[in-house]
Amino acid sequence: MPLTIREATRGDIEGVYRLYQSLTPEDLYMRFFSFHRVSHEEIEQLFSRQDHITLLAEIDGEIVGEATLYDDGEFSVAVKPNQRRGGIGTELVAELIRRAKKMGISKVKFYTLPENYPMIRIGKKLGFKLEYDEDQVKGVLELGQGS
Ligand SMILES: CC(C)(COP(=O)(O)OP(=O)(O)OC[C@H]1O[C@@H](n2cnc3c(N)ncnc32)[C@H](O)[C@@H]1OP(=O)(O)O)[C@@H](O)C(=O)NCCC(=O)NCCS
Repeated sequence: MPLTIREATRGDIEGVYRLYQSLTPEDLYMRFFSFHRVSHEEIEQLFSRQDHITLLAEIDGEIVGEATLYDDGEFSVAVKPNQRRGGIGTELVAELIRRAKKMGISKVKFYTLPENYPMIRIGKKLGFKLEYDEDQVKGVLELGQGS
């Protein structure tokens, strides 16, 4: 099935809720730095805020991945557990980078845990500079002005 990557709209609230419901507590911690399970209302609130863009990965009408980029350049990404290791996470982050460049954002960054091999691998593949701390890894990609 072909993968589509597109910007989220309010009509996607239910699909995004289902995606978050499929995540394990560990996944939720990686995505939100909290074990808290995101409620329907919180997703609605997220969709009504204007400080970010959210991209969705869709296969055959099902939302299988999500990546959100905030105005300050920080982003986070999550892929449905049964769809991982197929390149969706990499595709989402690559598209976020393209969007960020178009938006004139000068650098994008992510924070994750040192044991999050897939996210660190995505960062390395896409050219992020990685800064290792004891309890977290920060990935930074300079985009340059208008490049
Ligand atoms: C991080 C995450 C988004 C990656 O999604 P994904 O669709 O599996 O990513 P990709 O398929 O593009 O894989 C990226 C790389 O990691 C590797 N990888 C992914 N899962 C792996 C695993 N369990 N074991 C070993 N390697 C793995 C892939 O092989 C790929 O490397 P390659 O290109 O050298 O083959 C996904 O694991 C996830 O949702 N995790 C929970 C939330 C999270 O950690 N978000 C990051 C917060 S910043």
